[in-house]
Amino acid sequence: MAIERTLSIIKPDAVAKNVIGQIVARFEQANLKVIAARLQQLSREDAERFYAVHKERPFYKDLVDFMISGPVFVQVLEGENAIQTNRDLMGATDPKKAEAGTIRADFADSIDANAVHGSDAAETAAAEIAFFFAESTIHSR
Ligand code: TYD
Repeated sequence: MAIERTLSIIKPDAVAKNVIGQIVARFEQANLKVIAARLQQLSREDAERFYAVHKERPFYKDLVDFMISGPVFVQVLEGENAIQTNRDLMGATDPKKAEAGTIRADFADSIDANAVHGSDAAETAAAEIAFFFAESTIHSR
C-alpha cells in the first residue's frame, strides 16, 4: 500500500462540541499523521468554492451556511492508504447509518451537521489539500 495524503476537515459542529482532540486522536491511533493543520473561519465564497461539485444539489445552500457557522479545523493527514483509512474512520455520511465506533456515529448529530469531511479519491485529495495549504506549510515526517 502507498503512503498517501488526504484532507480532513473537523466541521463547525464538532469544533463547537470541543472534540477536536478526540477526533485527532482517532487519526493518530490509526497511524495517520497530522502534517499540516489550522483553525479557520471559512468565508461564504470559500465554502461555495470548496463544495462547488454539489452546487446543483438541494442541500447546497444549507451545507454552505453550516460550513460558515463557525470555525473549522483543517488538516492534512498522511499515512498508508490515508484516503480510505480516513473514510473508514469517518463512517457513513448520515450518522444514523454510520457504523458504531466511527467518528460520525460518535460525534455527528445529523446528515448535514456530520462532524467531519474527508477527501474521497486521490485527485480530490490533491485538489482539496492545495485549496487550503501551500506545499511549504505541509511537513511530512
Ligand atoms: P457527500 O460528498 O455526499 O458526503 P461525504 O461528506 O460523506 O463525502 O456530501 C457532502 C456533504 O454534504 C455531507 O458531508 C453533508 C452534506 N449533505 C447533506 O447535507 N445532505 C445530503 O443529503 C447529502 C448527500 C450530503
